[in-house]
Amino acid sequence: MYKLTIHGGKALSGTIKTAGSKNSSLPILFASILADTPITLTNTPHLSDVSTTLRLLMNMGAEFILESDNALFVDSSKLTNLVADYHLVKTMRASILVLGPILAKYGRAKVSLPGGCAIGTRPVDLHLKSLEELGATIEVKNGYIYAQAKTLIGAEIYFDQVTVTATENLLMAATLAKGTTTIHNAAQEPEICDLCNCLNKMGAKIFGIGTSILVIEGVESLNGVSYSVCPDRIEAATYLVAAAITSGSITVKNIRYQSMRAVLGKLIEIGADIKTRNNSITLDMKGRRPKAVNIKTSTYPNFPTDMQAQFTALNAIAEGHSSITENIFENRFMHIPELARMGADLTLEGNTVFCRGVESLTGAHLMATDLRASASLVLAGLAANGTTTIERVYHLDRGYETIEEKLKLLGAQIERVQD
Ligand code: EPZ
Repeated sequence: MYKLTIHGGKALSGTIKTAGSKNSSLPILFASILADTPITLTNTPHLSDVSTTLRLLMNMGAEFILESDNALFVDSSKLTNLVADYHLVKTMRASILVLGPILAKYGRAKVSLPGGCAIGTRPVDLHLKSLEELGATIEVKNGYIYAQAKTLIGAEIYFDQVTVTATENLLMAATLAKGTTTIHNAAQEPEICDLCNCLNKMGAKIFGIGTSILVIEGVESLNGVSYSVCPDRIEAATYLVAAAITSGSITVKNIRYQSMRAVLGKLIEIGADIKTRNNSITLDMKGRRPKAVNIKTSTYPNFPTDMQAQFTALNAIAEGHSSITENIFENRFMHIPELARMGADLTLEGNTVFCRGVESLTGAHLMATDLRASASLVLAGLAANGTTTIERVYHLDRGYETIEEKLKLLGAQIERVQD
């Protein structure tokens, strides 16, 4: 296992390039199951979640080649094993995204229940209910989902609550259903738009992209295409917070800032000077200490839950009092006790953390627990006086491509060392 050691207190500066989106790459890789011919993806990030997805697909009979120019050639057109095993699914909840495509293409599937994770129970009831409304028969026993559907029939589907991957599972299944499916209260994340754009390029007929009502006219078949994955807005936002928390100034390139308005608005509120042009964002704190900012997480286009932990670290050293309310997941506060060990003054009441900004944090020996909580510990370590050590960095590698290399490019003193 590896850990990160960070010598904090240095203002970050410089330019980095955002990688492709994790939460766009994963559904698009699973969408390759729907195609009768291989797909070629470019701009896919080098993340352990992408490797896990490729392993899961390979386990089912898919083949892939990482080409010299980093393009990913994936042939999932002839699966021989329609079972998604627990030993792979348990390491990545997004594996549930295999269900819709396999059901649509092969008419039957056996997928392990993903189980909960550090941030919550993460049920999949809305995935199953919506697929049943397309005509699937679904039984859950011994920790597995057994799904059958001779033919999926388009239907009007109403999601009781906004759910990203259930929207993705359903829309992928609907592309090959008979007739038209309308999804009401669909999630509108940019990663869903990316998936829809890729599916339409493959021959699907999806309308209302980017809105809460998606209309999918079922087609006979889909073909493989070449597609470039959209940039990762959460990775980009995390580095912008790294600059803000160290009172630095950085430029993030290869980013669609239009998908980050809620986060950019909050960064302006903390006192950052933000410039956006073409496909880059420059944040400049001009050496100033950030001002505290109140946050309430919600669904897109509002403030993303995936940036909550990072802004908690920022508020911990900001000037003033603030509150951060987590409205999406029931336990996305695993970073709080670790930040408190660095001297942060944070009080958790229900789903709200109250922050009193302190002048500075002190480095400590910390334990990463989940992807975004780990990112918040790195940010706190960058700002803290002294040395911070973070164990179990495999959590970070799920969603941040070579994080220590990118931070070094920005002047951070950070090393990855073997435990
Ligand atoms: C996706 O998770 C993302 N993962 C998450 O990113 C992100 O935090 C989340 O959406 C919210 O934006 C991927 O895209 C791979 P949800 P997902 O279904 O789809 C409840 C990261 O850090 N719910 O939108 O699993 C659920 O418990 C990860 O990159 C049900 O009750 O989230 C939650 O409270 C973490 N039943 C709420 O809906 C269901 O069947 C929203 O969850 C499904 C969800």
